[in-house]
Amino acid sequence: MAFDSYRQFIDKLDAAGELIRISQPVATELEITALADREMKKPGGGKALLIEKPTINGKVSPFPVAINTMGSWKRMAMSMSAGTVEEVADELGSLMKAKPPTGFREAIKLFGTALELRHAKPKTVKSGPCKEVIHKFDAPPTRTEPWPAAAPISNLESQMSDSPPTLADLPILKCWPLDGGRFVTLPCVVTRDPDTGERNLGMYRIQVYDQQTTGMHWQLQKVAARHGRRYYERGERMPVSIFLGGDPMFPFAATAPLPDGLDEFLLAGYLRRKSVELVKCETNDLEVPANADFVIEGYIDPKEPLRDEGPFGDHTGYYTLPEPYPVFHVTAVTHRKDAVYPATIVGIPPMEDFYMGGASVKLFLPIFKMNFPEIVDIALPAEGVFHNLVFVSIKKTYPMQAYKIMHGLWGMGQMMFTKYMVIVDADVNVHNTSEVLFHLCANTDPQRDSIFTKGPADVLDHATSEIAIGSKLGIDATKKLPGEGFKRPWPPLIKMDEAVQAKVEKLVNP
Ligand SMILES: Cc1cc2nc3c(=O)[nH]c(=O)nc-3n(C[C@H](O)[C@H](O)[C@H](O)COP(=O)(O)O)c2cc1C
Repeated sequence: MAFDSYRQFIDKLDAAGELIRISQPVATELEITALADREMKKPGGGKALLIEKPTINGKVSPFPVAINTMGSWKRMAMSMSAGTVEEVADELGSLMKAKPPTGFREAIKLFGTALELRHAKPKTVKSGPCKEVIHKFDAPPTRTEPWPAAAPISNLESQMSDSPPTLADLPILKCWPLDGGRFVTLPCVVTRDPDTGERNLGMYRIQVYDQQTTGMHWQLQKVAARHGRRYYERGERMPVSIFLGGDPMFPFAATAPLPDGLDEFLLAGYLRRKSVELVKCETNDLEVPANADFVIEGYIDPKEPLRDEGPFGDHTGYYTLPEPYPVFHVTAVTHRKDAVYPATIVGIPPMEDFYMGGASVKLFLPIFKMNFPEIVDIALPAEGVFHNLVFVSIKKTYPMQAYKIMHGLWGMGQMMFTKYMVIVDADVNVHNTSEVLFHLCANTDPQRDSIFTKGPADVLDHATSEIAIGSKLGIDATKKLPGEGFKRPWPPLIKMDEAVQAKVEKLVNP
């Protein structure tokens, strides 16, 4: 079932006992984070929260805040209207098995075709609920002098308006004490390649500087950053539209590491089993989902200097320090009358994004397996904050196969950010970190079984000596073969006889 609004998804969570409604006022400054963090740290991800009266500097915002709505395996599956995420992954995998591709490029092409065949192609409609309230702004003159340091949060609060909402009226969180201000944490950012016209949907946080300007935190290696570089080279204003809410598959698709050129709205349409209906924006010619809760339209002017963005309490569990990013000017805010403001927080794991990232890995596992048929499973444990640490189990049949997998995966999309990759045999459950660590310790000679290499790094990684470049460690924790120079016999793993096990089970549980 496709959701017509974020509120409809929230009602479904409520009916399933997956939501806690908080009716007392809770401050958008730190308090919502403290509440949500408690929930996200509970085993399995706790419950979703609907903060009915979020306050901005003591004044109640007209819009409730929904948080942790996808922060458990159950809620992640519910957002896809499925019993489990694995069900969806299996269906997607079998779509592509009909005509197995011969390589990764072909697999991706086939993936796109498979999605289109399911009538997932987005379609344009004339209007939609996201335009129930429209507030337009004049574009300011191009700024050539350097920007001041980020506006202190108190400046923004004094700008709350009684007229239709500006950014200062939305319940945008200041998440952590040392954050440089308020950040929109679940924004779906739409951009377009000026050369090909191809669209991209990505999730890149935006820091609110004032009512009408924000930072745009697309990192160096992301698709929208590539689009942005082309606009800078051409010296043309870049249209950008940001939307929030609508179907929960929109923010999910925005975070999914789809290859450059594959439309995330196609993936969203497939997952919600209904084409995404798009409407043209009011002040630029990009399109956004008609059923979004909020739309923030605007542009980036390549003639303007970059501005410091941050600090921000990040996925890494540390603050990301200020770095220069493009400035986004808001030319319109439109919204549903009954809009819900969707938010998340990031910080020391586990957080909600563990389940969003994990669901992506499950969905894309069939594609990894097509290129590397020996892969059995892949896990990104919460401690590795997405891609820092990756466990891969393989059916090893020839010498050095574990190294082939390491090199192959480091070369695939955002797996380039992986700092530590551990390869284990097929019978190891990669989702059980303790089991992986046991095999890692037992099956390796550290010097012989590890490899260091270099590559691009996550720009959020504070430990690399230079931003965005770093080293990687791969560990082969599989059983060693004679062909790998291992001359000793490999001992059997200790296992109880099955019949004895069954007899004892009966004894204990008659
Ligand atoms: C909650 C959340 C916040 C994120 N914030 C950012 C961000 O600020 N900047 C960024 O480049 N990526 C961010 N990401 C990761 C991107 O959304 C992700 O890499 C996505 O695949 C990028 O899309 P693209 O490949 O189309 O560029 C975030 C992910 C999540 C789940």
